[in-house]
Amino acid sequence: KQMNGLKHRAILVTGGAGFIGSHTVVELLEENRAVVVVDNLSNAASLKGSLPPAIVRIKEIVTAEQSEKLYFREGNYGDTDILKGIFQEFEIEAVIHFAGFKAVGESKRLPLMYYRNNVAGTLYLVKAMEENGVKNMIFSSSATVYAEAPQEKLPLVEDSPVGNCTCPYASTKLFIETILKDVVQADPAWKVLSLRYFNPVGAHHSGKLGEDPKGIPNNLMPYIAQVAVGRRKHLNVYGTDFSTVDGTGVRDYVHVVDVAKGHTAALSALSSFKSGFRAYNLGSGKGTSVLEMVSAFEKASGVQIPIVEANRRPGDTAIFYCDPQRALKELGWKTERSVHDMCEDLWRFQKKNPNGYVSDCKEN
Ligand code: WQD
Repeated sequence: KQMNGLKHRAILVTGGAGFIGSHTVVELLEENRAVVVVDNLSNAASLKGSLPPAIVRIKEIVTAEQSEKLYFREGNYGDTDILKGIFQEFEIEAVIHFAGFKAVGESKRLPLMYYRNNVAGTLYLVKAMEENGVKNMIFSSSATVYAEAPQEKLPLVEDSPVGNCTCPYASTKLFIETILKDVVQADPAWKVLSLRYFNPVGAHHSGKLGEDPKGIPNNLMPYIAQVAVGRRKHLNVYGTDFSTVDGTGVRDYVHVVDVAKGHTAALSALSSFKSGFRAYNLGSGKGTSVLEMVSAFEKASGVQIPIVEANRRPGDTAIFYCDPQRALKELGWKTERSVHDMCEDLWRFQKKNPNGYVSDCKEN
């Protein structure tokens, strides 16, 4: 609270210690906004009794003045007591909702954990927002909500068919979108922008902030980066017999800072957005194959990445990329960073942090 007892106006960011979340928090602070991050650190490095490394690094990147306006509250984003405290302490103007489990394979093994945390948690968050008259949300959705599309139906637009999700993780994103649509139907005072990320990769150009997955990375680029620093022996290329340019999977890679800027663009658009639920693709609009990403990373890092051809992963599609026109037209957003930038920024981060943020957690 301010000296005069007035509450600070702020944006509530759930999961703000995560990969996309932390990069978005930097952008919000650099727009001189106040930000409250709530995160249970279940997928983030943590240091007993002090701020988590991701939050410390965000504060190092922005100015001292901007750093003052970053508040961190540890806990579950769906915990009604924690939410009550935040809404009492701050004048929350909007919520950017990143928090959620997101490992495809894990979701197949533990569907109930995914539905409880991702879907039920969101129900409590939306309830608390409603009770406090906060009806502006930017939702972190995913391209995985789209049904597999034959090549002639690409690129994917926001009205492309959704559903037939290949894993519970993807279903949680689709169910949450459906729930939010129904909430908006019932109360048009709500405004919800749902941002469907394609493949976010890369890191902040400072090398201080990046993807710091726990365990073995599921995703391509963090795995490649770990091979480059010697943490993994080689890259397994999952499938080399797809009907694509070189037989390997083609995806729409987008720099994580471009994705972060998509959130601040959406937040600015909210005020002029009349009402309702609207989805936006956050992607480059271009497809790049696994082998093309490997060679782009080798060029950017100067490090050879040994590869081993392996079987396809169940559920992997050949080609997946979007048409990002709606975000350009309505949010004034488009990607500005290239695949080379993604690889360069990722390499700088990985080189400086071979083991991710864990180096910050050593008892000094
Ligand atoms: C990309 C390409 C793989 C790893 C994921 C998930 C989900 C989503 C982000 C949030 C594919 C190939 C990968 C490896 C490989 N997150 N690959 N060797 O599967 O497109 O989608 O994106 O929503 O996590 O939906 O991303 O990075 O796992 O795979 O050959 O070790 O790289 O087959 O062609 P994906 P990915």
